[in-house]
Formats: sequence, C-alpha cells, structure tokens
Amino acid sequence: MRVVLGVAGGIAAYKSALLLRLLREAGHEVRVVPTTAALEFVGVPTWEALSGQPVTASVFDGTDTVEHVRIGRQADLVIVAPATADLMARAAAGMANDLLTATLLTVTCPVLMAPAMHTEMWQHPATAANVATLRGRGTHVMEPEVGRLTGADTGPGRLPEPEAIAAAALALVEQPERTADLAGRRVVVSAGGTREPLDPVRFLGNRSSGRQGVAIAAEAAARGADVTLVAANVDAALLPPDVEIVPVESTADLQAAMRERAGRADVLVMAAAVADYRPATVAEAKVKKSGDGLVIDLVENPDILAGLAREARPEQVVVGFAAETGDAAGSVLEHGRAKARHKGADLLAVNQVGNGSGFGDVPNAVVILDRQGAVVGEVEGTKADVARGLVDAVGALLDTRAAVDVPSELSAGATTLPG
Ligand code: C5P
Repeated sequence: MRVVLGVAGGIAAYKSALLLRLLREAGHEVRVVPTTAALEFVGVPTWEALSGQPVTASVFDGTDTVEHVRIGRQADLVIVAPATADLMARAAAGMANDLLTATLLTVTCPVLMAPAMHTEMWQHPATAANVATLRGRGTHVMEPEVGRLTGADTGPGRLPEPEAIAAAALALVEQPERTADLAGRRVVVSAGGTREPLDPVRFLGNRSSGRQGVAIAAEAAARGADVTLVAANVDAALLPPDVEIVPVESTADLQAAMRERAGRADVLVMAAAVADYRPATVAEAKVKKSGDGLVIDLVENPDILAGLAREARPEQVVVGFAAETGDAAGSVLEHGRAKARHKGADLLAVNQVGNGSGFGDVPNAVVILDRQGAVVGEVEGTKADVARGLVDAVGALLDTRAAVDVPSELSAGATTLPG
C-alpha cells in the first residue's frame, strides 16, 4: 500500500520516525511529506534514509512530475503525525501553501490525523472548530493522549504512541473479508437528515451526517447486493461508490423515493433522520423580519418507516433506527422496545445519542431488536462495524425466510406425489 506520512512542525516529529519504521516493516511504501517547520525538528536526511524516497516540503520541487497532485492521487492512505494546531487550521481552511496541505486537497483516500500540541492549544475553540470541520468532512482525527507534554506541563495534547497511530490508520483501509451473501438482493437504504422548507431560503433540519446509512449501503454493496442510497442532504464527499444515489431534500421527497423503490426491494433500511414535523405552509417569498417575533405552525409528517413496514411483503425485511436518550419515563432500551412494537419493522437498531455518541464521525453502539422488542444482537465500534453487524442480522433474517419459503409449484407438486 502507498502511504503518505505528513509530518507537521512539533517536537513529537521524532516519534514519526518510529511510525515510519513500523509502516515500512509492515511492507508499505511510505512517502514522507514534512512541513518546513517539521524540518526544524527532524531533517530531510532522516526521512529520506528511513523511507527510501525523496523528501521535500515545497511544491516547487519535482514540478516536472507535478508532485503536489501526483502524491495525493497515488496514495491509499494518508497519516499526518504530528498534526499541529497550525496544520489542522490550514487543512480546515483548505489552504495549499506547502506540499503537505496541497496533497491533503487532492487525496480521496482515508486521512488520519494524530494531533500533538499543548493542552491550551488543543482546547482552544479555534482548534476545536477546526477539528470539527475536518471530522465533518470525513478526516479521522484521533484524540491526543493525556500525559507529559514538552515542558513540565501535563494534560491532553500528547501524540498517541506510533503503534496506536499505525493500528488506527491501517484499520481505515484494511477491509475484513466478506462473502457475497447478499448477491442478487435489492437493498434500499435512506440516510442523512431531511430538510423541511420554510421559505425559498430557509429550512428546519437536523444534525444527521448520514454516515451510518452510508456505511450500511457500502457494506451491503460489498456483500454483493444491488444497493440504492436515498440520500437526504448527505455531503457528496461521504457518498459511497458502487451504489445508486437518489438525492432528496424533504420528508415528502424521501417518502416518495422509498415508496417508489419498495415494491422491488428485498431489504428496506430507514437510517435517515426524518423530521417529525414540517411547516404547515411554505412561504413563496423570503419571510421578512416583523420586529414582533415569529410563530411557525407545524404539522406532523407521515411515519415513513411504519408505512413501509405496514405495506411490506412477507419475505421483505424492513429495518429502522431509533436514536434515544433515555429519560425519567424509561431507559434507552425501554424506549427502543416500545418503538419496535409501535413501528412494526422487522429489525430496529436502537442507539443512544448525545454526549459525543451517535451523530457525526464518532463511535456508535446499537442494540438490535426484533418487532416484539426482543434483543437479537448488539454491535459496538465504528459506523462500519455497526453496519456489518446490522447487515449480518438482515442476512440471517433473509436466510430464515428463504428456508421456510416453500415455492408454490413444489408444494403443489408434493400433494400429487404417490404416497
Ligand atoms: O420515531 P423516531 O423518529 O424515533 O423513529 C426513527 C425511525 O423511524 C428511523 O428509522 C427513521 O428513519 C424513521 N422515521 C420515519 N418517518 C418519520 C420519522 C422517523 O420513517 N416521520
């Protein structure tokens, strides 16, 4: 695999020399792209000797081969370690004022950043906003370790150990072996968050990134299914390959897209965050400030999942999600159980949201319930891990249905066989 190792200017740059060794020992080709500041800490000869490849921080070297574009295009994986506050700020702003930031703008492969800086810098709202921007675009930003920093200070900001960085980075590209157990199956997945228009420029929306639905669509496609992703306002950079994309905006659009495809689908997964309400009327012109507040009348949206479950064919598998927080009236699981019975889907994946879990590029944990509310599985990990567990449960259900489905011509024939 071709790995680009970006090194920004921090004292922890020396640890990246160990990371480079680990990657090389694991058989990967590594191209080191330091920033000019990084070269103040560890020089070009070290990087060149350890990587066996030329090293420069400038976009003006190797111009005959257009290095600032070529390096990124050829990469299977990019690791930036250490990722300093400055480097992340430049990357978040989309700057391209050195070879590393220019490379970051051209790559389409997974990018992992391992931050290292003083605690105050890590906790500064500017850095937090840059990290959120990067994560929102699909860059994986590790949490720094807590411990001794360069001076006498301790706190969050230490570069994670090289072994941990290598493991996290390689996990992004090393796909587990899959069988084509969904070959010939049609799967329709909804993802993202609906937007309910208020006027030509405003909408009511939600924070769903669509990552979990995207991961389910990608998993089903990797297992041989013919997949359609009904994507409600999902960032184009997140959309998976090998999947038909149907972009939608509002709940009405999403419902129409799902219903249109439901008849031919074997599996329907409602992973989208659908608005429960929409404005009763949509103003034709932009609503002006009245100086006197604004009251918006809302009407309830149809429950798409419940409708799909009601109209499902017996052999079809319908899957829903329930994001719960738990409250005085019941735990996350209790609310999930009630929802499973109420929605009528074959499977309901219940996850706890809030406190950094559930939304965005964060680990996820779901409990999978059947339509009676009984637990049929539990999965924890990345959204790809959750997708795998959920698709396993879907596959198992499809298999049991296939096993009890006796084709009509066979059963009719059986009655005429001599006894
Ligand atoms: O009721 P709640 O919004 O928690 O249910 C979540 C599940 O129902 C998700 O699968 C979501 O896609 C689906 N849903 C729907 N139509 C709505 C609201 C939610 O299909 N109007």
